[in-house]
Amino acid sequence: MWSSRWMFVLAAAGSAVGLGNIWRFPYITGENGGGAFVLIYLVCIALVGIPIMMAEVMIGREGRQSPVNTMRALTQQHHRHRGWVLIGWAGLLAGFLILSFYAVIGGWAFKYILSLADGGFTGATASQATGTFEAFLASPWEMLFWHTLFMVVVVSVIGRGVVKGLETAIRWIMPLLFVLLAVLLGYGVTSGAFGQGLAFMFRFDWDALTDRALFEALGHAFFTLSIGMGAIMAYGAYVPSSVSITNTVITIAVLDTVVALVAGLAIFPIVFANGLEPGQGPGLLFVTVPLAFGQLPLGALFGAVFFILVSLAAITSAISLTEPALAYLVEEYNAKRSRVAVTLGTGCWLLGIGTVLSFNEWAEFHVVGSMTVFDFVDYVSQNLMLPLGGLFIALFAAFALPKSVLGNQLGLTGPVGRKLWLVLAGVTAPLGVLVVFLVTIIGLDNVKAWFAG
Ligand code: TRP
Repeated sequence: MWSSRWMFVLAAAGSAVGLGNIWRFPYITGENGGGAFVLIYLVCIALVGIPIMMAEVMIGREGRQSPVNTMRALTQQHHRHRGWVLIGWAGLLAGFLILSFYAVIGGWAFKYILSLADGGFTGATASQATGTFEAFLASPWEMLFWHTLFMVVVVSVIGRGVVKGLETAIRWIMPLLFVLLAVLLGYGVTSGAFGQGLAFMFRFDWDALTDRALFEALGHAFFTLSIGMGAIMAYGAYVPSSVSITNTVITIAVLDTVVALVAGLAIFPIVFANGLEPGQGPGLLFVTVPLAFGQLPLGALFGAVFFILVSLAAITSAISLTEPALAYLVEEYNAKRSRVAVTLGTGCWLLGIGTVLSFNEWAEFHVVGSMTVFDFVDYVSQNLMLPLGGLFIALFAAFALPKSVLGNQLGLTGPVGRKLWLVLAGVTAPLGVLVVFLVTIIGLDNVKAWFAG
């Protein structure tokens, strides 16, 4: 068990804060045109993400095993349909898919520690920074090397058992990461384009909203909070019963959102001050941040430290992606943790090669439409599997668990609190997912036309 409430907050924050906040949020905000996307993302965090995260912690703490076995135990105990256990299984698969590309991007962060440390970006121009990144992407062997290294580090950490190192590590990583983001933000404020960055992120333009933005904002809300696949459920299994789930979850969600917004506010001014393209895609972080540190005194040092912290944040997130599968295999087969870790890691690494090649040799190979292997794995796992997983987690927590569990877990004994919970987990959260899916299927333009009469 985690030693205290604070420790669970740290571990869950370590899972939530990662590449999703610092790498993914800015680049998909850029691709989806800014303000409208950000607003929908914030609404999804508040109305869909928070209730589902609460549901996950609650289910995990009630079952006190890995997600698959927790779902098995709870469905048997309360005589519910065995189909609910699929939530657990789908989560294992989603975690596996996500880690396969997460490790590739984690490898990029590793590589950039060295690239910044050797001073190569000192005084660099925007086109030099872009060129450096493109040259890196064009080299599958180099990418494979860093991808492999990231996976080896993750496997060696999870093979030893999660809890020990994690608490101490996160206690250092989070505050330091905040400090360096603040440095970057300071640079953004003085770079001359802060107003433009701010307007890009917060000016809500209803006409610019697309179905894709709506859909990706929902998927990203799940991704950034680490919900919908059982990771938080697995961590919930270690939470002491005295901890307040509501307060804890809100703390984590706020922290996670603040990190993402600060990262965006730091990056977009750099984009506009240097005439870069906000929608340039996954390279956004790796072009803008080196560029900014290249202009700052001691930039090579601070830049290297920044990417060390991003790498560490990525590792603490990657750990949580494997926890449901790892905990299940260890429970079920009494297998050695280290051996399970190596097997899982190897499988994920193999699949990750598809993502490595998506940026070079296989760039023209499309799985469906114009999606590369990376786009496809990313799309299926985050935009489809996480929201669907979350939908069923919310429904299970709201309707399949008896009222007594609610009372014990959330401390909701009065009718008002219970109703509120039912509305959030049983109505708002599932409806949010369904509405976004429906609008995506029907097409936002058709919906707008219908509203316009
Ligand atoms: N939330 C992490 C990030 O933003 C990624 C992550 C870790 C995750 N564990 C997860 C995403 C579980 C979905 C499910 O980088």
